[in-house]
Amino acid sequence: MNKIKNTLFSNKPVTINKDSLIMAIESSCDETACAIVKGGREVLANVVASQIKVHEEYGGVIPEIAAREHLEAINVVIDETFKQAGVNGNAISAFAGTVGPGLVGCLLVGLNATKTLALAYDKPFIGVNHLNAHIAANFIDTNLEPPFISLLVSGGHTQIIKVSSYSDMEIIGETIDDAVGEAYDKVARLIGLPYPGGPKLDKLAQEGNSFAFKLPEAKVGEYDFSFSGLKTAVLRLVKSFDGKDMPVNDICASFQECVSSTLVKKVKKALETYNYKQVVLAGGVAANSEIRKKIFDLEKEGYKAYAPIMKYCTDNASMVASSAFFFDNTFDDVNVEVFSRA
Ligand code: KG4
Ligand code: ZN
Repeated sequence: MNKIKNTLFSNKPVTINKDSLIMAIESSCDETACAIVKGGREVLANVVASQIKVHEEYGGVIPEIAAREHLEAINVVIDETFKQAGVNGNAISAFAGTVGPGLVGCLLVGLNATKTLALAYDKPFIGVNHLNAHIAANFIDTNLEPPFISLLVSGGHTQIIKVSSYSDMEIIGETIDDAVGEAYDKVARLIGLPYPGGPKLDKLAQEGNSFAFKLPEAKVGEYDFSFSGLKTAVLRLVKSFDGKDMPVNDICASFQECVSSTLVKKVKKALETYNYKQVVLAGGVAANSEIRKKIFDLEKEGYKAYAPIMKYCTDNASMVASSAFFFDNTFDDVNVEVFSRA
């Protein structure tokens, strides 16, 4: 699949094909990331500077601090990416950057760096939607092609998306309140785990009994989700132990069972309804052990399942480069503005 894009400065056409290198930058939240990817699937360099340590003491991401941290890190991260790939800017066919959704101050740092690189090297600029990028992480090191149903689970989003082609994506269901990652982080805080609680809760859950407590599943639209009632149920459960001998692992496991079974049940319904044979897990929460297991269990029922390896689940720039390469719904106008919400 070839794409033709124009260079920024001299407006000359550039053909982007399977041998082309795309450099991408991602800075929508608390990771400053840069990558160089060949043909949308082969990662030549993937550099991520995480700010988790900086935000840990506040129990969450502070947007202004995050933006300043991006400013500090961005040049080092870009230099390191060129170094790891062993190329310079002249070898790059196009520069891609995350436009949104995300924290505005953070996005501005990465997007301006992307636009500057594209101008300085006179190459095309490609603006990318962060959510499409999470889905595109599944193109890395695979032969995946649409059509597929994607379950996108991150700190800010929970969606079931029908991807019919590289140019046609439709959100068929989403959360009406908390995102899955948000629910994980909030429940983790309830039981006293430090930020970001999702991965820690997942670890404890693996040591517990998934059926120790029956937690409620929300009644919402066919492909929609709601996790605020579940969160309240866990709060009530935690309080019932009054700080004494709380079976933390069992609570975590029961919460994880409730979330993962709800998610995968609805994905399976979508696969059946639309008669799709491929399922694609995406987003930071795709790192979750039980959600991964249940998605891959669908292979026993004849579906083909995909999930990125761990380092491409959470925010990274390889997925941004891959999204720029494969998906058609990109922003090619260099005057594009960052946006905070999808
Ligand atoms: O996609 P991401 O890196 O950032 C956003 O765009 O939101 O996702 C981060 C979210 C956080 O809420 C984090 O707690 C959650 O993903 N997360 C997990 C796991 N690993 C990361 N949640 C549950 N289990 C995990 N193993
Ligand atoms: Zn993300």
